[in-house]
Parts: sequence; C-alpha cells; structure tokens
Amino acid sequence: KQRAPLVVANWKLNGGTDLMCASVASFVKKRFKAAIGIAPPYVYISDMVSFLRNSNIMVGSQNVSKFASGAFTGETSAQMLKEVGCGFCLIGHSERRQVFLENDASCHTKIERALAAGLMPILCVGENSQQHELGLTHDILYRQLHQALDGVSLQGQRLCIAYEPVWAIGTGKAASAAQVQEVHEYIRQELGAILGAGVAGQVDILYGGSVKKDNAAELLAMPNVDGLLVGGASLDPDHFAEICAIAN
Ligand code: G3H
Repeated sequence: KQRAPLVVANWKLNGGTDLMCASVASFVKKRFKAAIGIAPPYVYISDMVSFLRNSNIMVGSQNVSKFASGAFTGETSAQMLKEVGCGFCLIGHSERRQVFLENDASCHTKIERALAAGLMPILCVGENSQQHELGLTHDILYRQLHQALDGVSLQGQRLCIAYEPVWAIGTGKAASAAQVQEVHEYIRQELGAILGAGVAGQVDILYGGSVKKDNAAELLAMPNVDGLLVGGASLDPDHFAEICAIAN
C-alpha cells in the first residue's frame, strides 16, 4: 500500500473530560506511523485540538450541518468546524441515517459543504442485516455512493469512505476480512465510475464495525482496506492505542 493506514475513533455520544484527558495522555507520548483521527462530541473538539496541537493526530466531528448559517437551531456548520481546527467530519453514519432520518441527498449536500470548508469528508455507507441477508449489499452501496457523490468534484481534496455494515456495528460481530475486501473492491470500482479511476485510487476506504485489537491486523492486511473506523474500542484509550500501533 502506498499510504499509511488511517485509524479514526468515533466516540459517538460517549466520553467527557476524563476520556479526553486519558486519550491525550495515552497518545501524545506515542508516535504512530499510522494517521490517527479522533471524533469526540462537538463540545470537546476545541479542547481536544489544543491538547493535541503538537501531535500529528487529527480531530474531527461526527456530523456537520447541511446548512451554511441561519436560523437552524442546534446545527454546527462546516466552516465553524474548520475554524476550531477540525480536519475531517463523518457524514451519513448509519446512526444518523436510522435515528435522525438522514438520507443520501443530505449526505451529498454535507459533502459539498465539508469540501468547500476544507474539511475531509468521511462518508459512511453500509447495508443493514436484512439487506445483507437478501444479498442487496452492492445495490445499497451503489445507491449510497452515487447519490452522495455524483457531481462532486474533489479538486485535489481528500475524501474517505467508511464501509460500516450496520449488522456489525456495536454487535461484536465484525465482517470477515474476506467479506470486507470484496465489498471494498466494489466500492473502489464504483468510486472509479463516479470520480475517475485515478481519483478513486487516492480515496481511503476504511472499515468499521466491531473493530478490536484482535481483528485489526487481519482487516488491515486486505489490499483495499486503507484504515479503520473504531467505535466502542476507542472508548478505552489503551485499547485504541493498541489498534493504532497494529496499524503502524
Ligand atoms: O463509527 C464507528 C462504528 O459505528 C463502529 O462502532 O466499533 O462500536 O462497532 P463499533
């Protein structure tokens, strides 16, 4: 692989000052070759950015508004996230899609907003268990990728895709390395159709869903797995640091 893997922590609605301090303490003394990102809840972003100023760890957000500004109570814009030092934002996480009814059209708008503000979007895609059992994985991904990305121009900016099968998230039942490789290959192929083969080759495709230190090496060994998106295991700073070390 040409690039160092990218390992991203998604704290979801967890953590707080204690976890932030423990994570910072655990990371700053280590130097990972892998690129590392952390997405804490919004309110911790600024402190996290300043604590990690002298590290190469990126801080990002778990969501971004599809609006730029105005009367949208509770929203946070891409420009604001950029201003406080975010490097990336997650877009279209399955929990946003399921619980907050986000759709492919809003993902598209959010990607445009993120790119315009200079944030790296990490677009999350993946099928649920019913779709998986019906063999619809490619159809679902085709729709999610095309509707979010058709017409988007990266103009040299970075984009990541996180493949997160919904049935593997928080269940302890990760997809097998072979399954992940097969799906990532399909994602790469569709990215080629949407963005052109050259650009598609530059997109990092991460896997997420019950990643632990025990399965990280096997997943990262797959040729089309460029990194990992870690939920539960990132809430234990030592466990997350071990995953980052495996990705080195
Ligand atoms: O964004 C992270 C994923 O939803 C994975 O969560 O590692 O707890 O399964 P998990």
